[in-house]
Amino acid sequence: MKSKLIKIAKDTNFFLKKFINKQKKTELVKAMKYGLFPGGKKIRSKILFDMGVLFKIDYKTLIAIGASVECIHAYSLIHDDLPCMDNDKLRRGKSCTHIKFGESTAVLAGNSLLTMAFEILTSANLNINKKTKVDLIQKLSESSGHLGIAGGQYLDLSFEKKKVSKNKIIDMEIKKTGKLFSFCCAVPAIIKKKSNKEIKFFENIGANIGLLFQIADDLIDIKSSYKVAGKKTGKDKKKGKATLISLLGYQNAVMYSDKIKSKIINDLKRYNLNTNNLSKTLDYILTRNG
Ligand code: IPE
Ligand code: IPE
Ligand code: MG
Ligand code: MG
Ligand code: MG
Repeated sequence: MKSKLIKIAKDTNFFLKKFINKQKKTELVKAMKYGLFPGGKKIRSKILFDMGVLFKIDYKTLIAIGASVECIHAYSLIHDDLPCMDNDKLRRGKSCTHIKFGESTAVLAGNSLLTMAFEILTSANLNINKKTKVDLIQKLSESSGHLGIAGGQYLDLSFEKKKVSKNKIIDMEIKKTGKLFSFCCAVPAIIKKKSNKEIKFFENIGANIGLLFQIADDLIDIKSSYKVAGKKTGKDKKKGKATLISLLGYQNAVMYSDKIKSKIINDLKRYNLNTNNLSKTLDYILTRNG
């Protein structure tokens, strides 16, 4: 599992470097590359790969679509760290983009990475038909805006220092983190022209994977360190973030994430899909420290 993840990360970075280097250079590119490389774990691309293999989607297509997801993810992290949001200084083992380049440049580099995701999906080199590209763009934009990342980030910030119900926390976490995973899980079904009902089924699987991922991230904030996680830890409590850990306690949150994993695997098994790879990826997500 780890070696496959490393290969996917390498191939995704290679794709992104090539894509950016083909474009005309601008001053902003420096800050964009800083936020994008060497980059994080590429877990979203791995989930996309695990699902894509089940539908026999070609590897190059998966890397290109994964690269567009990683652009949106990198943008969301650059903005998440800004003083007006989580106000962090360290990310992926180095200074945040706004610390290195200034706030306005970080905002604009983030915006440019967000739009670059859609440039990638429209590129002629991506070997899928135009109608499918439009379908993918529709889903990815929905996952990124007020119904997805941006909406979830809004809720995350507005819940700070408040007592928030379990359902509201879950809704916030599914929006800020889950929706991008929903997109990754739905991609193969969209490419294979499955029914809306089937696409919805895979989006739901993705939302649960994202929820599980966010709980694991919240656990890391408590159990890990900068050295391992590449970002400052122990900050959620100080900021009064509403998380399932702050509501249920550490052990209950761990148990809850295990329950979500079983649900994901059982749902996929009922669909008669081989869950071996995905199960290993989920175990990695749940047991990692960074
Ligand atoms: C961190 O995501 C932010 C969350 C959505 C929880 P990752 O842990 O995937 O970050 P990188 O890409 O590996 O740095
Ligand atoms: C970030 O969640 C979710 C995003 C969509 C960016 P966090 O704020 O918990 O992520 P970290 O811990 O800063 O990476
Ligand atoms: Mg945040
Ligand atoms: Mg943060
Ligand atoms: Mg966090």
